[in-house]
Amino acid sequence: MTERIVLAYSGGLDTSVAIGWIHDATGAEVIACAVDVGQGGEDLEVIRQRALDCGAVEAYVADARDEFAEEYCMPALKANALYMDAYPVVSAISRPVITKHLVRAAKKHGATTVAHGCTGKGNDQVRFEVSITSLAPELKCIAPVRDLALTRDRAIEYAERHNLPIATTKHNPFSIDQNVWGRAIETGFLEDIWNEPTKDVFSYTDDPAFPPVADEVIISFAQGIPVAIDGRTVTPLQAIQELNVRAGKQGIGRIDIVEDRLVGIKSREVYEAPGAMVLITAHQELERVTLEREQSRFKRSVSDRWTELVYDGQWFSPLKKSLDAFIEDTQRYVSGDIRMVLHGGRATVTGRRSETGLYDYGMATYDEGDQFDQSQAKGFIEIYGLAAKQAAARDVAQGNAEDLAVEPAGSDQA
Ligand code: ARG
Repeated sequence: MTERIVLAYSGGLDTSVAIGWIHDATGAEVIACAVDVGQGGEDLEVIRQRALDCGAVEAYVADARDEFAEEYCMPALKANALYMDAYPVVSAISRPVITKHLVRAAKKHGATTVAHGCTGKGNDQVRFEVSITSLAPELKCIAPVRDLALTRDRAIEYAERHNLPIATTKHNPFSIDQNVWGRAIETGFLEDIWNEPTKDVFSYTDDPAFPPVADEVIISFAQGIPVAIDGRTVTPLQAIQELNVRAGKQGIGRIDIVEDRLVGIKSREVYEAPGAMVLITAHQELERVTLEREQSRFKRSVSDRWTELVYDGQWFSPLKKSLDAFIEDTQRYVSGDIRMVLHGGRATVTGRRSETGLYDYGMATYDEGDQFDQSQAKGFIEIYGLAAKQAAARDVAQGNAEDLAVEPAGSDQA
């Protein structure tokens, strides 16, 4: 039986050429698999047909939009996942869900190998391959751009020579990856890190410098997940989509950073993630109201580690799963409403309410109705500060006290 290879297919030049390129190099039959994670753009049926026209023996499109929103974006939201405090792991969370569909297709068609279009310099090759072998250790991986010398020039030449139904002329100056959680733009003139992104870099967001009138939104959460917007019930996918539009108009969620890649390279990345950034801002504020203090403090370090693991391609790893369990447990009372104003590049929280919150008016108020017994504070501080007080006394006894010397009075006068 002829060997079969499942290819992660985007519909673009590189993966279209890869179909024939892989066949020529290995003799294997190629099955093209495109996964819809809400990237928009071209009609996926057109993409499927193109794969067949380029020589795939089978071509699929998997609609993974709800699955991606529910099982990948929502965990990222519960973790408030921002790699290097900035990047909402847009591409990093899409690779595992795409991989799941590739592996499923490989099993179904008895394929031995999964192929992807990544280069040898980025994170995505690692994410694909580590995810593939985590789900199906027996599968092999191949990356034609990296392993079979499929350069851009050769791809253009191949497509023209074989009359492939794919444009080879209008070359996008950027490398773009997008899905419903956001959009990543890199390469080209952005590689000079002093260059400001030009208008053509952006597509999910409008210029925040010229915003329309302010947009007030109320997002309702149940156990860490958005369930309604302005009182209308929404699915996670609908919540992200609606906020992408509303926050996108206000230019919210543009991110421009130099980032540490897993392979050791620092690289310039521009992102737009309007819906994701609004949801994370709202979710974080609701956690401030609902999480117990120590749980909240500890969760920050768990979330940072979770985010690094996900960025580094370890979505299906044991540690990531263990941290998932912790994060999930913290979300039990993260329910309630957050009111925000979206305007001119900012999402500002203006109100919060929660039946399961820990904010207690009677404890907090300085007005009538104060229930906090201030007389208890004196004894608390006495004991709380005792260890530091004793250490300070030792410093004094040993002649190592803090230098508190002051100029003698009047010495600064001439
Ligand atoms: N640097 C980001 C990451 O590693 C985005 C990569 C997106 N890929 C692309 N071809 N633009 O998650």
